[in-house]
Amino acid sequence: MVALPARDMADDDQDQHAAGAEGTATIASRVASICAMLEEHDTAETPMSSRQVEEISAMIDDVAAAAASESEWTTTGDSKRTSNKTPGCMRSTCCYEKLGKIGEGSAAVVTEARHLTTGQTVAMKAIHESCRSVSGGELLREACLMAACLGHPSIVALHGLARAPGTENDDYSLVMDHAGPSMDRILGARMRYTGWPFSETEARRFMAQLLSGAAEIHRHSIVHRDIKPENILVDGAGNVKIGDFGSAMSVAGGQISADAYYAAGTTKYSAPEMLLETPGYDARVDAWSLGCVMAELLTGEVLFNEKSASDQLWLIYDVLGVPGKEAWKPHESSFVASRVPLWRREQRRRRRKGRWHSRWLRELFPEELLSEDGFKVLKGLLTCNPDRRLTAAAALKLPWFADEDNAPVKNYAAM
Ligand SMILES: Nc1ncnc2c1ncn2[C@@H]1O[C@H](COP(=O)(O)OP(=O)(O)OP(=O)(O)O)[C@@H](O)[C@H]1O
Ligand SMILES: [Mg+2]
Repeated sequence: MVALPARDMADDDQDQHAAGAEGTATIASRVASICAMLEEHDTAETPMSSRQVEEISAMIDDVAAAAASESEWTTTGDSKRTSNKTPGCMRSTCCYEKLGKIGEGSAAVVTEARHLTTGQTVAMKAIHESCRSVSGGELLREACLMAACLGHPSIVALHGLARAPGTENDDYSLVMDHAGPSMDRILGARMRYTGWPFSETEARRFMAQLLSGAAEIHRHSIVHRDIKPENILVDGAGNVKIGDFGSAMSVAGGQISADAYYAAGTTKYSAPEMLLETPGYDARVDAWSLGCVMAELLTGEVLFNEKSASDQLWLIYDVLGVPGKEAWKPHESSFVASRVPLWRREQRRRRRKGRWHSRWLRELFPEELLSEDGFKVLKGLLTCNPDRRLTAAAALKLPWFADEDNAPVKNYAAM
């Protein structure tokens, strides 16, 4: 389950907060029930009929409307949504002129398009045919999870789903704001042209926005599971937005099957407990990924860059320390269990030779690169034990973000 951080609030705000919390709970439970419906189709391996897709798409529109009205964020996200569609009917791709490919991931291709009536530029995501499930519900799930967070300025704004006229079932696209190039591209270009990554001040501003976006996702009992530079988009004003909810899951209410807790997302940015496929992993897997992103913003390099889960775990433990017997207990039946005693032995050997110490992360991020306050955020996010790791909301309360000039888009510490 997602551990929602305790938030301080003034007495005056309590009624408003109670109403807001109720709205959040309703949105989270609506999202969970739509996801459960989609899961049933997946389990039964039955393709959805056009009518079922239409119905679920309408439910997603309702979630989006509820989220937008509940949202306290002063964003243009919702007002910009192309809304001239018949209520209850899916949008048609005929309303958009396709302009060209803007991105491609392992599962989908994203095209830039212009709405013919409003002139607004959008991004349209379609799943590669080879990656579609029998039920064809991937984009519906992704849209539903995005809809819950609609209105937050650090999350890509959903417009809805659109189908090409005359097509059936799974042949539809997800329409969203065209949010700009990915952080991966921006950082890569910066490294190529200047040779320098981002300064601490720049990294702090990005991190404030990303943590605020992640806290909003978690507030709706959603775990993103794939936060990484390729899935962070940077708009023209230099603001960052979290996108690609393709691996996200709802953890609101109900029983979640152990099968749902697989190593989703991308190995290089995955928290140890996700690599270990620990059932019940929660929103703190996203906090870990944000720690990896923060490290990369400051150095221009991927911090833990291995391909296989077991090599990645060793790399992480090599820097942060192999877990002790107590901390390792929940993972005793995991696929690397037989290696952990060897890793511990290796670390003891290195420690004797003076080649390993517990401040190794600080060696990689010395004071010249990152102040003590900044390091507390990095270290708090990159903590192997999820029970001791900072949540996104808790990270925003640390002194690194206290300076007004560097205030997050909206500081959760103030709520
Ligand atoms: N809203 C958007 N605005 C602009 N570009 C976008 C948008 N959404 C996605 N992109 C671009 O398209 C690329 C692929 O999109 P996305 O990450 O959603 O696909 P994916 O196949 O699910 O990715 P992955 O390989 O992470 O699973 C992104 O890395 C980004 O460059
Ligand atoms: Mg992606």
